[in-house]
Amino acid sequence: MLAYTPEIAASTAQLYQKVSKVIPEIEWPFHAPYIAEINRLKRERDAVILAHNYQTPEIYHGVADIVGDSLQLAHEAANTKASIIIMAGVYFMAETAKLLNPDKTVLIPDKLAGCSLADSITGADVRLLRQKYPGVPVVTYVNSSVDVKAESDICITSGNAVRVVESLGVPRVICLPDEYLSNYIAKHTKVEIISWKGHCEVHERFTAQELRDYRVSNPGAIILAHPECPPDVLLEADFVGSTFRMSQYVKDNKPAKVIMITECSMSDNVAVENPDVEFVRPCNLCPHMKRITLPKILECLQGGGTEVTIAPELAARARLAVERMLAVPHG
Ligand code: 13P
Ligand code: SF4
Repeated sequence: MLAYTPEIAASTAQLYQKVSKVIPEIEWPFHAPYIAEINRLKRERDAVILAHNYQTPEIYHGVADIVGDSLQLAHEAANTKASIIIMAGVYFMAETAKLLNPDKTVLIPDKLAGCSLADSITGADVRLLRQKYPGVPVVTYVNSSVDVKAESDICITSGNAVRVVESLGVPRVICLPDEYLSNYIAKHTKVEIISWKGHCEVHERFTAQELRDYRVSNPGAIILAHPECPPDVLLEADFVGSTFRMSQYVKDNKPAKVIMITECSMSDNVAVENPDVEFVRPCNLCPHMKRITLPKILECLQGGGTEVTIAPELAARARLAVERMLAVPHG
């Protein structure tokens, strides 16, 4: 463990003031030395830290250079000039960053940071689906392995799914692997959606009854939910959107009280940026996102971590699916 010196206390005092509502004071002496050392070393090593909205506040507010949802991180990974990319997120996010930056070093602080959606389907499954539905395009959520992306025509994220599906101009698509996101897309387009039974282990645990109970105990609260939740849960929500859209909703509408039906760190991170909004915090933890910690990020900058490598032929096919998605014009 690194030492919490008076100099580090002074240099991180302003940051602590900002996050004090979501990080207990007793924890700061542990986080602060790592934050100081990571921020020093990342400049020295020309590294950029990308962090998903589900990362803990000490990572999100303390060391990340770029934060966002999966779509924003994909865009930023495509634009970064730094020579090393550290992905504070899960493995498929690091793979996407590598696809878009084949000549850069992409590091993930913990290679076991997986995803139940990505694990729900293989490249062989996609090939079988293509045999079953010849000629039907395969549209794949970025929450998928590089093998699955390589078998796909185009990728989507929760932030652009309907727009990308409609950009294909076809009557029917195969949409993988999230059944609930597919269901949500189907409700917002005339395109027929053939889905797969993959689920996010974090969002599938919310229930409609739970949301009804929150409404009763928090009259007037606005409920925001992620489209990876089951359809009956989404029906109970006031707004459905990607993590970026949920955060934007709070920023734009400043509801007095809000409930975010998603991963736990999301409310913490958005609460820091919206001190006047009261957050009720029912949430489920993503055990994969939580594998990423400040000490593991520091290890990446000290020569550790896991470098993401992808065989060139596989990467070329998977990259095409991601680049096609990024090329779809904004609505
Ligand atoms: P978005 O941030 O793209 O909404 O995705 C949520 C998620 O579960 C990522 O793992
Ligand atoms: Fe995967 Fe769900 Fe965790 Fe996102 S929150 S990484 S979709 S398991």
